[in-house]
Amino acid sequence: MKAPAECRARDERVATFRVADTPLVFPEQTREVSTMSDTIQTVAVLGAGTMGAGIAQVCANAGMTARVRDLDDAALEKGRAAIEKSLARLLKKERISEADADSLRGRIAYTTDMKEAVEGADLVVEAVPEKMELKLRVFAEVQKHASAEAIFASNTSSLSVTEIAASTDRPERCIGLHFFNPVPVMKLLEVVKGMSTSEETVEMAKTFSNRIGKEAVIVNDWPGFATSRLGIILGCEAIRMVEQGVAEPDAIDRAMELGYRHPMGPLRLTDLVGLDVRLAIMEHLHRELGEQFRPPALLRQMVRAGKLGRKSGEGFYVY
Ligand SMILES: NC(=O)c1ccc[n+]([C@@H]2O[C@H](COP(=O)([O-])OP(=O)(O)OC[C@H]3O[C@@H](n4cnc5c(N)ncnc54)[C@H](O)[C@@H]3O)[C@@H](O)[C@H]2O)c1
Repeated sequence: MKAPAECRARDERVATFRVADTPLVFPEQTREVSTMSDTIQTVAVLGAGTMGAGIAQVCANAGMTARVRDLDDAALEKGRAAIEKSLARLLKKERISEADADSLRGRIAYTTDMKEAVEGADLVVEAVPEKMELKLRVFAEVQKHASAEAIFASNTSSLSVTEIAASTDRPERCIGLHFFNPVPVMKLLEVVKGMSTSEETVEMAKTFSNRIGKEAVIVNDWPGFATSRLGIILGCEAIRMVEQGVAEPDAIDRAMELGYRHPMGPLRLTDLVGLDVRLAIMEHLHRELGEQFRPPALLRQMVRAGKLGRKSGEGFYVY
């Protein structure tokens, strides 16, 4: 039997966390396997970058066909190489057999042609750079070739899923599928429900999440969703603490790693994600949610200096 305090806490959460008339689905509910029949067999992945390659890999690993689309052969080749690198790691650890790796490879097709990628696909996952105009342009092109039943998903980290959905001919069949980096490793799939997203589409997303071995957490569309909003505020405060001379970056990171069991401190994580990427998200959340997300001056200055983190060789640490 549950302790009364626990019951009260749960009731309070249910009573408090409602956005307008759309009840949130809590993680424990999302763990149930959906009873809806699963119709997703072919997934079009738009963008063969860090995220797109990983998304194609996990879909193919689950037996689906993945069609990866990028703008040129060099970008596609980079995506293919990233998948090969990940497979090599899995093979070395004996987490996958050579035969499975081969059949997985056989389920991924690469193309620069949007029509070829999207025509007949059951699900389209967009993973192009985090710019609203670009995402809207991509979906406008997608809907020229997609079947009427196809579900459209965006892997956006912070932009409005509702706005993306409203620009398409099927807002009720649009959803946010926010994967985490590296996709084959990270367990979470943050499923973002736009204002017009239907329950049927949410069910499909839950089934899809189960099939690719992820745990879905359902959130309503609000700037930064749950993960980026909390992750960014922590990063933001850590940078302010460096500015104020509270402690050295390594001391702040170790404090959170050891004291709060974070696998990686907030400044190390900022270096991994890219200071420019985090600055762009902070600017967006500052506009949308207010002062607490105002980017620290130190972050702006470091981005201007080209200190972007791991990718440039220097950020809060030197690589
Ligand atoms: N990198 C991360 O850690 C991370 C984590 C979660 C979510 N996201 C989100 O995922 C999305 C993609 O991020 P990423 O890190 O993979 O970016 P990336 O820059 O690594 O890859 C983006 C790819 O999209 C391609 N592209 C651009 N326009 C295109 C078009 N019209 N059609 C097809 N491909 C096109 C680019 O050539 C590039 O290869 C963004 O919305 C980002 O916010 C990123």
